[in-house]
Amino acid sequence: MADTLWEKIEAEPLGKLGELFRSEPDRLSLLTQDLAGIYFDWSKTHLDRKLIRNFLELAKRRDFEAAREALFAGAVVNPTEGRSATHVAERGTGSPDDVDLATSRRSRMRALVDAIEAGAFGDVTGVLHIGIGGSLLGPKLVVDSLGRGVSRVRTSFLSNIDPYAFEEAVEALDPATTLVAVVSKTFTTAETLANMEAALDWLRRGGISDPHGRVVAITASPENAVKAGIDETRILQFAESVGGRYSLWSSVSLVVALALGWSAFEELLEGAAEMDRHFRYTAPEENVPLLAAFADVLYTHRFHAQTRATFAYDERLRLLPFYLQQLETESNGKSVTLDGAPVTGPTAPVIWGGTGTDAQHAVFQLLHQGTELIPVEFLGVTEEDTILPEHHRQLLLNMFAQAAALMQGRTSDNPHQSYPGDRPSATILLNRLDARTLGALIAFYEHRTFAEAVLLGINPFDQYGVELGKAIARSLSEGEDKADLDPSTRALMKKAEL
Ligand code: F6P
Repeated sequence: MADTLWEKIEAEPLGKLGELFRSEPDRLSLLTQDLAGIYFDWSKTHLDRKLIRNFLELAKRRDFEAAREALFAGAVVNPTEGRSATHVAERGTGSPDDVDLATSRRSRMRALVDAIEAGAFGDVTGVLHIGIGGSLLGPKLVVDSLGRGVSRVRTSFLSNIDPYAFEEAVEALDPATTLVAVVSKTFTTAETLANMEAALDWLRRGGISDPHGRVVAITASPENAVKAGIDETRILQFAESVGGRYSLWSSVSLVVALALGWSAFEELLEGAAEMDRHFRYTAPEENVPLLAAFADVLYTHRFHAQTRATFAYDERLRLLPFYLQQLETESNGKSVTLDGAPVTGPTAPVIWGGTGTDAQHAVFQLLHQGTELIPVEFLGVTEEDTILPEHHRQLLLNMFAQAAALMQGRTSDNPHQSYPGDRPSATILLNRLDARTLGALIAFYEHRTFAEAVLLGINPFDQYGVELGKAIARSLSEGEDKADLDPSTRALMKKAEL
C-alpha cells in the first residue's frame, strides 16, 4: 500500500480535535447524520475535509462502488472460498435469486414458528439455543436487548464446551417443555455437537422418550444434521453463502422469533434493509458506514491504534461489544490481501468494550491518561421509558461528559492531574431501542466492516485463521502421538493428566 495516497493520508498535517471544530464550523453537518432512527456523530474524530477527500480517492482506487455493488448483486466477494456473501438477501436487498431463496426458506421458518406456537411440540415454555460464534452471538444479543420483560419463552444460550456452562444453561429449564435449537452452519463444530449430545441426555434423563423429537437443527449443511440424528422435517436450512457472523438474519434467529414474535423478527430485518439501502445508494461522501471505516483506518494507520473500544450506555446493549468483536476481528483480522500478498499496514484492531457507567470506574483511567490512544465509541438510547428517569438522564450525561473530557483534556501544573485530551470518540444515539433500530445498527456495523476490508484490500468473509487450533485440538482429542508437540504443551498436558 505504499502508494502516494497512503503516504498523503499518513503524512497530512493533523489538527487537534478542538482546533478542527474551530476551523471547520460546519463539522457537524459534515460528520453527523440522522439515519434509520439513529444519530451518528463522528465529529469528535480527526477526520477533516482534506482527509476525507484523500480517503474518498482511496475508496475510488479500491473500486469501492464496484465492490459494494458486487456484494448486493450476489457476485463472488469471498474469492478464497469461491462464494458470494448473501446476508443482505436475507433482509430482501440482495439479488432477486438470492432474495427468492431466502424468502422461501424464511417461509419454512415461519411455518415452524407457527406450528410451535400452535402446540405441535406440546407446551413450549423454554428454548435452549446451542451454537457458538456467529451461530449464537447475534440471536443472543437480540434477545438480551429486546426480550426483557416481554419474552414469550424462557431462553437460554449455550456455546462453550465447559460443563459449568452446560449446567448453568439448563438450570432454569424444564426438560418436559424445552425446545432445543441446535445452530451450526457446518454442523461439524465440536463444541456444538458435544453440547447437543449433552442436551439430548438431559432430555432423556428428564423423562423425554424421543429427545431428538425436541430438537430443531438450523444449518447450511442439512446432510450433517441428518447424520447427527435430526429428522429432515425439523431442519431449517440457510444458504452456504451466508457467513456465520452475518447469519442472524436467517433461520439462525429461530429463538428470536419464538421469544419476541414473528413481527419483531421482521422488523429487525426491515431495519437492516433500511441501512442496506443507505449503504448501497448513498454517495461515498455521505455514506455513514464508509465514513466510519475512514476513521477506523485513520486510527490504525496514522495513530497506530491497536484497539478500539465500544461502551454501551444502556444495559440492554451490554452484549454488543462481544458481537462486534467477532464481527470485526474474525472478518478483518488478516495479514494478506485478496490476492495473497502480505498487507503492508495494520488491519483490524482488537475490539473490546463494556457498559457505561461501570467501565468509567475500571478502564477509563487508561483511556484518559494512558500512553495508548484508543478510539472510543459511545452508544446510548435517547428514549426513556423506565421507572427511574433520573438514572437514565445521568447515564446519558455521563456518556456525553466522558466524550467531551476525552477530547478537551485539561492542563495542570501537576503532571498527575493533567489530561492530554485530543482523544477521539464517536457517538451513536438511538432514538429508541426496538427491533427495527437494532437491525439498522447491526447492519451499519456489518457494512462498516465490509467497507474497511475494501479500503484495506482484504477478504472479510473467510476465517482460515481459526482452523489450525481446531485441527490440533482434534488430533489431541483423538489421542494422536504427542511426540510432535513442543515441550511446554507436553508438560501442561501431563500436569492436567490428559
Ligand atoms: O471457529 C470459527 C467459526 O467457524 C465461526 O466463524 C463460526 O461462527 C463458528 O465457528 C461456528 O461455526 P458453525 O456455525 O459451523 O458451528
